[in-house]
Amino acid sequence: MSNPRAAGPFLTRPFVLVALLAIAIPFIITRFQSDISRVLPWSPSSPATTTSSVPVAQPSSTGSPTTQPDVRVLPDFDYSREEDITRYSLGGYHPVNIGDGFKDGRYVVRRKIGYGEFSTVWLAEDIQVNEFVALKILTGNSTEGGIDEVDEINLLLRASTADVSHPGHKHVIGLRDHFYHVGPHGKHICLVFDMLGRDIYALLQHYDEAVPMNIIKSIIRQIFLGLDYLHTACGIVHTDLKLDNVLLTLEDPYPRISADLATNPPQVSPKQTSEFPPYSTFSVIKTQPLPVFVPSSDDPQIKIVDLGVANWVGNHLRNEIQSLALRSPEALLRAPWETPVDIWSVACVIYYLMMGTELFNPWAQEDPSWSTEEELLAQMIEYFGPVPQSLVKSGKYSTDWLADDGMLLHVAGIEPHANSLHANIAEFYGEEEADDLMDLLGRMFRYEPETRATAAELAKHPWLNN
Ligand SMILES: *[C@@H]1O[C@H](CO)[C@@H](O)[C@H](O)[C@H]1NC(C)=O
Repeated sequence: MSNPRAAGPFLTRPFVLVALLAIAIPFIITRFQSDISRVLPWSPSSPATTTSSVPVAQPSSTGSPTTQPDVRVLPDFDYSREEDITRYSLGGYHPVNIGDGFKDGRYVVRRKIGYGEFSTVWLAEDIQVNEFVALKILTGNSTEGGIDEVDEINLLLRASTADVSHPGHKHVIGLRDHFYHVGPHGKHICLVFDMLGRDIYALLQHYDEAVPMNIIKSIIRQIFLGLDYLHTACGIVHTDLKLDNVLLTLEDPYPRISADLATNPPQVSPKQTSEFPPYSTFSVIKTQPLPVFVPSSDDPQIKIVDLGVANWVGNHLRNEIQSLALRSPEALLRAPWETPVDIWSVACVIYYLMMGTELFNPWAQEDPSWSTEEELLAQMIEYFGPVPQSLVKSGKYSTDWLADDGMLLHVAGIEPHANSLHANIAEFYGEEEADDLMDLLGRMFRYEPETRATAAELAKHPWLNN
């Protein structure tokens, strides 16, 4: 199917785009930081192995293998934008050198790709299978902390292994490996992930904001498959689905990453000695994210990532869920919720992919005395009508904002159905496409969660498969 949106909504909303890119780019670069900061220890009794550092061949000028880049030692490297060096101390970051091996030399560090308060993240080579991986090394204190977020690793393990034959398995990030590493600053949890590409914002950029419709549909279908896998095979509710948690897989990663390593060798500070016990030596290494590898195929593959705030079906770890703009009505009103919350968020994501702008903007209050929640409810009512009685009754917060008739208590002048999704879509895609897409979105944007379609049903929807 050809794409009619070349002159679509993006071009009429250049300010949205500029803002979007400005937000997206730093976000992408820091993704691993925010992601990792939530990965906290699991029980030390779990069957992880303890290894010690096994340095692997340091780069030399005497014809080392092509995959081993030179390391540029920069005497005046300004590392003010890197991790806090006072935390190269007991309980802090593990001092890593380019070329270090982990887990008995299996994972060889090639480059630093990010850091967060509780970890550093490295591009490493898994020399057993000749693949690049992302290696997250947690600080000693977060490894030892025993904080209550054992869960992310358990969630990741479940997502890795629940049912590898499920068609959605490959569309969800999994944990390739995990182990302990002991160094001068303590014991560190290490997590190994597939090396992934940029999020689907990068795709919007690549296609000049006019992504071909067959690619949009393929990506949406993959999201539904991944979501069905999480919901039914893993018993996981993601609860933070948004564009930036959908990453492109890398095509042909080995030669491309190798080539980038050769062109952009790691840059490191000279060795220095920590001012804090145990006074170990370390270098600060520059963060060098991968460049944007544009997808060459007609069918780019994606994975849903970040289970950092996910929940078990039937066993919720938290109730404050979802980014506000993508928050489902039941989560907003604190009514009982389960997997359908993800369906609502994905509906918002689909709208964005099609229209290049957010459906809901809770920060756009006409009157600053309205809360963002009231603004969001007002916008929902303008599209979908008053909130149904059943949901008003079951929501703990409903009485803060809503009257019994499902209209807002403190905000007057909201007109139910004043806006129309169908009209918005038809304006850019025509009536026929809007009819088909609305048949899909109409099954997702339903106030009552039990009436929303499931991910499995949606993956089979004709709009995605024609
Ligand atoms: C690790 O925790 C200990 C004990 O709370 C603290 O004294 C130390 O400063 C921490 N180390 C780092 C690098 O944060």
